[in-house]
Amino acid sequence: MKKKRMVNTMGRLAFAVAFLGLLLGCSKDDDLVDNAPKDEDPKALTLKDRAAFGIGAAIKTNQLQENMFAYTLYEHFNQITAEWEMKMETIWTSPTSFNWSKADELVTFAQEREMNVHGHVLVWYKSFPGWFKTAGYDSTAFESKVKDYIQTTVGRYKGKVKSWDVVNEIFNDNGTLRSQDCPVYASFEDPIGFYGRCFQYAREADPDAKLFYNDYSVVLASGKRNAIKRMVARLKDEGYPIDGIGDQFHYRVTTDVNTMSSGLKDMASTGLLIHISELDLIVNTQKSDSYQFVRSEQIKQAQMYGAIVEMFEELPQEQKFAITTWGVTDKYTWLTDWWHPREYPLLFDENYNEKEAYAAFLEALK
Ligand code: XIL
Repeated sequence: MKKKRMVNTMGRLAFAVAFLGLLLGCSKDDDLVDNAPKDEDPKALTLKDRAAFGIGAAIKTNQLQENMFAYTLYEHFNQITAEWEMKMETIWTSPTSFNWSKADELVTFAQEREMNVHGHVLVWYKSFPGWFKTAGYDSTAFESKVKDYIQTTVGRYKGKVKSWDVVNEIFNDNGTLRSQDCPVYASFEDPIGFYGRCFQYAREADPDAKLFYNDYSVVLASGKRNAIKRMVARLKDEGYPIDGIGDQFHYRVTTDVNTMSSGLKDMASTGLLIHISELDLIVNTQKSDSYQFVRSEQIKQAQMYGAIVEMFEELPQEQKFAITTWGVTDKYTWLTDWWHPREYPLLFDENYNEKEAYAAFLEALK
């Protein structure tokens, strides 16, 4: 690890006070935040200040109630993804009703602080509401309902949500279409045609929003990546709008860096925007109950974060959309439920201290 970030304590204190003011509802015209002293050493700037692309984090709105969470989010990131509050299942409560309360809260938080929102996600097989799956729609009714959902949702946040994951996880790693538990696969002879029209519906609702296809293991699984590239070529050919591809990057400290790096370049060969959309790095790869996140483990993780940021930086500048981490602090990560309770995958520790991983991320920015 090279130089550790110098922290201007007074500056941070002023910033925290200013931020508290913002939380308590001071008007933006007070310009408290913008006038907060910044560290002079450029290395001391935070991720969002240093990066020439978006720095995102996934959040849940209840986390914003915790001052340190909100403060850390605002200080280091400039883009927000909803971890689940903008998924179809959360918003679309019945054929005729929508619950926008959480999504609105998130979008308002972002707007008041001039942060971008990346919308996640319009069509995902895992997120169709129960009532939809049992409604017995034929493909015509299915599509007209989903069209209505997309246009209502994207339309509501037009100009506020700058980008959307329109479609998530439709391919298996070998490149075949996912059939298991996928309502679209079960209802359409040509699922890709349907997905293409979903992009079109989103475009109609907000012509300025950037539209993404999102999936996992894109840089690792060449079969899946080739299928995505074929889909992109077809959509372009048929005039359907797609602006970018995301790879989630839920990887491990042991994942092969060269494979990742060549896969990422290959994704970029589409010429589309590239989003590392849900980055977190598993350290407790063996799911050990006695795992300790000791210094050597911290360094290993930091090196991997650094390598990922470096490979992203090597992409053509105009294709670097954003790097989004799937959470802010190790205190709140989906992996403690989905992987192992002893897991430490993010950039900040449980007490909101910058980890070695943070320093390596910052250092790897151009
Ligand atoms: C996960 C959330 O992190 C969990 O809290 C939720 O219970 C399930 O979904 N790929 C995606 C994300 O695209 O939406 C998933 O998020 C993680 C995997």
